[in-house]
Amino acid sequence: MNEKSFIIRGNICYSEAREQLSVTDRGYLVCCKGISRGVYPVIPDEYRDLPVKDYGDRLVIPGMTDLHVHAPQYPFRGLGMDLELLDWLNTHTFPEESRYAELEYAEKAYQIFVDDLKKSASTRAVIFATIHIPATEFLMKQLDAAGLKTYVGKVNMDQNCTDTLREKDAEASLDRTAAWLRETAEKYPNTRPILTPRFAPTCSGPLLEGLGKLQKKYGLPVQSHLSENLSEIAWVQELFPWSSCYGNVYEHYGLFGKEAKTVMAHCVHSSDREVELMKRNGVYVAHCPQSNINLSSGIAPIRRYLEEGIPTGLGTDMAGGANMSMFRCMADAIGVSKLYWRLADQSRKPLTMEEAFFLATKGGGSFFGKTGSFEEGYEVDALVLDDSGIRTAKELNTKERLERYIYLAEEGGQIVGKYVAGKELLLS
Ligand code: GUN
Ligand code: FE
Repeated sequence: MNEKSFIIRGNICYSEAREQLSVTDRGYLVCCKGISRGVYPVIPDEYRDLPVKDYGDRLVIPGMTDLHVHAPQYPFRGLGMDLELLDWLNTHTFPEESRYAELEYAEKAYQIFVDDLKKSASTRAVIFATIHIPATEFLMKQLDAAGLKTYVGKVNMDQNCTDTLREKDAEASLDRTAAWLRETAEKYPNTRPILTPRFAPTCSGPLLEGLGKLQKKYGLPVQSHLSENLSEIAWVQELFPWSSCYGNVYEHYGLFGKEAKTVMAHCVHSSDREVELMKRNGVYVAHCPQSNINLSSGIAPIRRYLEEGIPTGLGTDMAGGANMSMFRCMADAIGVSKLYWRLADQSRKPLTMEEAFFLATKGGGSFFGKTGSFEEGYEVDALVLDDSGIRTAKELNTKERLERYIYLAEEGGQIVGKYVAGKELLLS
């Protein structure tokens, strides 16, 4: 029997649609060769011979996708939260990322990051590295070995940053990126490359233009930052005065969704024009609520993006966010949506628990294809949750237990099983 063919038994929850949560108590999730054949209250005859992993009264949910996270920022997570974006980058982020020139430091730091990501609720992640090739390749190798499915980007930046992080010029940045792509091509089946212009201010026009060409040549996906902070947006307008909006800068150079799958972090202050462009090009939004709180960036209008049909998922943006908990991320997404509704626009209803769960699983998961749900045909990424440590005298149904886990994961919740594309990861 194929090791990726089995049945998981437990209290199974997954999103079918944005507001539609499927719950099957003591149900059976059938996995054949890593792919879901559906969730059933009793095992269908045709699957009777598959081995059953019985998780008793535990919760079983899809693995989550962290759609935006910075691996090199893990060492200073939870520190330096008293600045806005541009000062935060110069004061905390660029000095730390400069250290990844030294492979010994990078190995130590990335090993901790990968170990912790492996134990987290994320089965998939879209990750920024730094400009450094040996360090980035080490990160890719470790992530691949951990069994997580990820996109990793060697960062491009050739202006407006410290000397220690600036690639010499556009040509050097492009040559180095092409060398990194050649070096890592097909080498790490679980870890794929993604083009990563850090954000428009640190990339010259010639660099963005060259990245657009590299994108076409290799057919690569793209990740960057967009309209996170008001000073940042004003700066982009100064640097690219011809642009009609920040997103138009990426679009102009063929890096905004039309040519390739693209994810933009934040989109807190996107103009109507920008939203229209995102919508037209199917650009993903990585909503990073905790980062937006910590860096005083603002509140992204996620209800609007959902209503406009813009593909949206959640990101921790660690170390803008203090940690990599996707549970915390869901709770924060709900929380900030309530503030947005109350303070900014009363026509945009807060996110529900079902919607936040959808964003963390099926919404963001779609960046990787059919992942983030247990519907038939989806890759089986699964988490087994033990909530017995979150004590209460009250009797709760399965949906209530899931809701409570989102808010109280760190208060006694435990991930006791984790599967990626049907393969079980050993967590200890
Ligand atoms: N914009 C450009 N770089 C970064 C970064 O590292 N974090 C965040 N949150 N925004 C950015
Ligand atoms: Fe970020």
